[in-house]
Amino acid sequence: MHVSELHDTYDRKIDYLRLSITDRCNLRCRYCMPEEGVAAKPHTNMMSYEEIIAFSHMAAQAGITRIRLTGGEPLVRKGVVDLVSSLSDIKEIQEVSMTTNGILLEKYAVDLWKAGLKRVNISIDSLDPKIYKDLTRWGKLEDALAGMEAALKVGMNPVKVNVVALKGASDNIEPFAQLTMDYPVHVRFIEYMPAFYEEEKDDFISAEELEAKIKALGSIENPDSPVGAGPARYFKIAGSKGTLGLIGSSKGHFCNSCNRLRLTADGKLRTCLFSDQEIDLLPALRGGHPKDLMELIEKAIKEKPKDRFAKREGKIGRKMSQIGG
Ligand code: GTP
Ligand code: 5AD
Ligand code: SF4
Repeated sequence: MHVSELHDTYDRKIDYLRLSITDRCNLRCRYCMPEEGVAAKPHTNMMSYEEIIAFSHMAAQAGITRIRLTGGEPLVRKGVVDLVSSLSDIKEIQEVSMTTNGILLEKYAVDLWKAGLKRVNISIDSLDPKIYKDLTRWGKLEDALAGMEAALKVGMNPVKVNVVALKGASDNIEPFAQLTMDYPVHVRFIEYMPAFYEEEKDDFISAEELEAKIKALGSIENPDSPVGAGPARYFKIAGSKGTLGLIGSSKGHFCNSCNRLRLTADGKLRTCLFSDQEIDLLPALRGGHPKDLMELIEKAIKEKPKDRFAKREGKIGRKMSQIGG
């Protein structure tokens, strides 16, 4: 069977797959993971690379053209470079990208680039080494920045920097504005989503407040958006090399153009970041017929909820690190 394009019930074209390849991480960002980590799933429940590749071929048949690798931290899983290579070789896949904390990126940038990774989004929540350390518990800012520089050096483009906006910590936007003067990077301030981790609820700062902070920098232009499949809006300081962006998810404004499916490292297709509806692919991958897998992908697309407020039953059952953002 070859289906070149799939639209969901609300006529959204689904062409973007976020593949979480591990729920482990080498950092412990306060809003994402408790210090002791999240109880590891039994190894046999995790998808092997062969299974991820088999699924991705099928997803490509169903109309997926872009794949983003996420985690946890994707670079902590051994063999990730070969995975990038295999995914890049899939004819229908036009782009393989990654969301990483950047700590291991200096080490892997050249190999990832050669394997076909075109671009990365790097999470760096503060440019103050002390605040960065405090937010990530274990991270060294200089490692993440070395990762960012390595990505730029090998030619990845665009390179984006994700900043989860937390009041009094990562909402100091001036140093990030300066970063866009110094480097051709696209800094996106992300509205904190407390539904995943309630500890830091009081630190929420809205996209509107962030937009006002950006506009107060002065000389703001509306640039063309960098290449991307996600929901960010962009601004630019006149004369800068990069841009400043905003990702606000609390109001669900971008649900009506949502183009994505998510696959967790333990083989569950999630139809929406905010919905606990999951479709288990492991039985179909382990002994089922390829047709079964295609039917499950079609089911996920058909049942994708209208927006982030549908199918919500209280607190979300997974941590962000088990979904991949
Ligand atoms: P590109 O635009 O293609 O570069 O990627 P992206 O912005 O989709 O990917 P990234 O992994 O960098 O995600 C940035 C932030 O956007 C993360 O905090 C995600 O959780 C958030 N995000 C991504 N997709 C969705 C979504 O469907 N809904 C909501 N509410 N947030 C999302
Ligand atoms: N709210 C908003 N963004 C989050 N991320 C992780 N947890 C949250 C949260 N609760 C971000 C990470 C990374 C991206 C995949 O999601 O910082 O940049
Ligand atoms: Fe790790 Fe990313 Fe979660 Fe931080 S936000 S703990 S880097 S998965």
